[in-house]
Amino acid sequence: MPIAIAAALLGSSAQATASNADDAKMNAFIDDLMQKMTVEERIGQLNLSVTGILTGTEANTDVTKKIAEGKVGGVLGLSGSEQVRIAQKIAVEQSRLKIPLIFGLDVIHGYKTTFPIPLALACSWDIPAIEEAARIAAREASRDGVCWTYSPMVDISHDARWGRVAEGAGEDPFLGSRIAEALVRGYQGDFSSDANIMACVKHFACYGAPEGGRDYHMADMSLWRMYNEYLPPYKAAVDAGAGSIMASFNGLNGIPSHGNRWLLTDLLRGQWGFNGFVVADYCGVREMVTHGLGDDQQVGIRAITAGLDMDMVSEVYLNTLKKSLDEGRISINDINKACRRILVAKYRLGLFDDPYRFCHSADEVSRELYSDANRAAARRIAGETLVLLKNEGNLLPLKREGKIALIGPLADTGANMPGTWSVATALNDCRTLRDGFEKALAGKATLLYAKGCNLYDDPQLEANGTVFGREMRDPRSAEELERKALKIAKKADVIVAALGEASEMSGESASRTRLELPESQRRLLTKLLALGKPVVMLNFSGRPVVLDWENRNVPAILQVWFAGTEAADAIPDVVFGDVVPSGKLTMSFPRNDGQVPICYNTYNTGRPNKKEGGYFDKFTTGYLDTSIYPLFPFGYGLSYTTFEYSPVKLSASSMNYDGTITASVTVTNTGNYDADEVVQMYIHDVYRSVLPPLKELKGFKRISLKKGESRKVEFTIDVELLKFYDAQLHHVAEPGEFEVMVGPNSTDLSIAKFTLNR
Ligand code: BGC
Repeated sequence: MPIAIAAALLGSSAQATASNADDAKMNAFIDDLMQKMTVEERIGQLNLSVTGILTGTEANTDVTKKIAEGKVGGVLGLSGSEQVRIAQKIAVEQSRLKIPLIFGLDVIHGYKTTFPIPLALACSWDIPAIEEAARIAAREASRDGVCWTYSPMVDISHDARWGRVAEGAGEDPFLGSRIAEALVRGYQGDFSSDANIMACVKHFACYGAPEGGRDYHMADMSLWRMYNEYLPPYKAAVDAGAGSIMASFNGLNGIPSHGNRWLLTDLLRGQWGFNGFVVADYCGVREMVTHGLGDDQQVGIRAITAGLDMDMVSEVYLNTLKKSLDEGRISINDINKACRRILVAKYRLGLFDDPYRFCHSADEVSRELYSDANRAAARRIAGETLVLLKNEGNLLPLKREGKIALIGPLADTGANMPGTWSVATALNDCRTLRDGFEKALAGKATLLYAKGCNLYDDPQLEANGTVFGREMRDPRSAEELERKALKIAKKADVIVAALGEASEMSGESASRTRLELPESQRRLLTKLLALGKPVVMLNFSGRPVVLDWENRNVPAILQVWFAGTEAADAIPDVVFGDVVPSGKLTMSFPRNDGQVPICYNTYNTGRPNKKEGGYFDKFTTGYLDTSIYPLFPFGYGLSYTTFEYSPVKLSASSMNYDGTITASVTVTNTGNYDADEVVQMYIHDVYRSVLPPLKELKGFKRISLKKGESRKVEFTIDVELLKFYDAQLHHVAEPGEFEVMVGPNSTDLSIAKFTLNR
């Protein structure tokens, strides 16, 4: 079977023949198996159960009993080679047909070695590095029993209030698609080795557009918008061969995704040719009852006939599908199709050959997990994800000298460093920023530390954003915390303020309506600035936040996200200049809460705002009280060096449908550091039959330039790149004029034009 998948990916004819033979063998095997299965056993395959830790081989829990009865197809949340072995042994020794289980876990940005949160990873714009992170995550997880990850999350979002933006790639469908493909490749490889695990693309669909930015809330949008802006990354992941896809919790245009036949069958399988399986999100099938679509039996019918193959945790399938079959309300074919897809996935993973394929010896596990090599990769990649937002007077990088005061509620908390969805991370062992600074300074400078304030003045707000023993509230009074901080700050030559969100203030179920720095932290920062010393702000967050005041008042701001298990080293690497920042934002940072949702690839109105800076101009589109532009735009990020761009040049002034045009710029490193730069190309279709976005990212290249070095960077434009979905949802390019823009971010661009001829 592995050859079949390789063949599909590589498309060579010799391999295609192998693939056909392999597919035939697999189909014969599954036909034979399914013939032996009772209806109940087939339904059992559609049931994904969740379990906590199993103790010993005698484990006798509700879930293990069901496994022995053939009522479970897969297990969620169990990891650890020995744990998985216990459950698998029950399946292959005690159940009648000995069908192995599939084991899924949220391996979202690493396993034990944890990489930066996905939004941060995206800001590296480093596709090979992102693929490498997924490959390492897969290798670690697959040593430890896990063969299926609920990643990548490819939900596009324009809404920083929605905390789950932490888990996605940001606002852009082109970049989001390249990242989706890289993650699928990284996890799955060609399935030829036991270090490859199955990906699960989520959350299908439009989970990133909930009304009001409130998690789980419905999305309502035109198909035209959906096809152009929200669907491309899901499709890219499907085209890259993702083995499974997860339905989204939200209602979309009036229908919960778990029961949306158009979405899960017509679009996904009919239009896109997806041939993996569809899994529910956690209890998503049963949640259709709460959505108001009927009782358990009705929503079960709704889901299975929509094309939802595996029921995660709710057991609606297990408890109602047989009854629905007996009453003639679903057909055996509905069950068979779903069952076959799940068996195919198990076959592809090699579980029928060896059910313990992913359960490795304690030695192998400890050799791979959190190995020096994996940690080195995580540290290197984390360094690429930090985004330098402001650096007045080249305050950064700091010198390793004198007295440095590290102050703030996030300076000395290890558990907050890796970020949300660090399921397998040893959070209590994570090193703090303070540890990292001490190590980086190695006695060359004196480090002073104080907490300075709690995360919030309001203990309830603080509790809402911190979970599972990550509570960090300091019982001392605000005055006392502040007094201590100011005392050490006065002694320091430079102040580094570690502020922002705790890790659980973003992620699932972590929507916020106020995106400014909490009042306790703003107060501390104001007092630190009043001392008149240089202040560097390290901003921790899992989403774009509002930094308008900080941008006006703090000389240097480094966006550090949640950078994984190696954050304690990766942040000082950048602060002290061992690594030059190169990250660029993949979501716009708004000026205030009211600008959200906001994105760069928006549309013109009939009354464009032409005022300098996008401020109020009567009878043009805009706001009375602020600019239409974000504070920090998509693609933005500074370096310690400077880059100069030549004006963009095109190889021709017109192009036919079967032709290409090359856009080129010369980029020169004009500063004092060797550094990386992300060169970005945007295209604007000047006239269209439907609204053209003002600009759309259509190419990017990450390059390394030594100081003084110049490089010509080229982008090839072909007709595929110019296509969009028209009002009839046809994927077309229309003839006419196009503007090509190249530069270091979505705002500072030079422009050249060409015409597309029919
Ligand atoms: C999340 C999914 C996740 C699943 C399993 C849900 O709450 O929405 O993204 O994969 O839980 O843990």
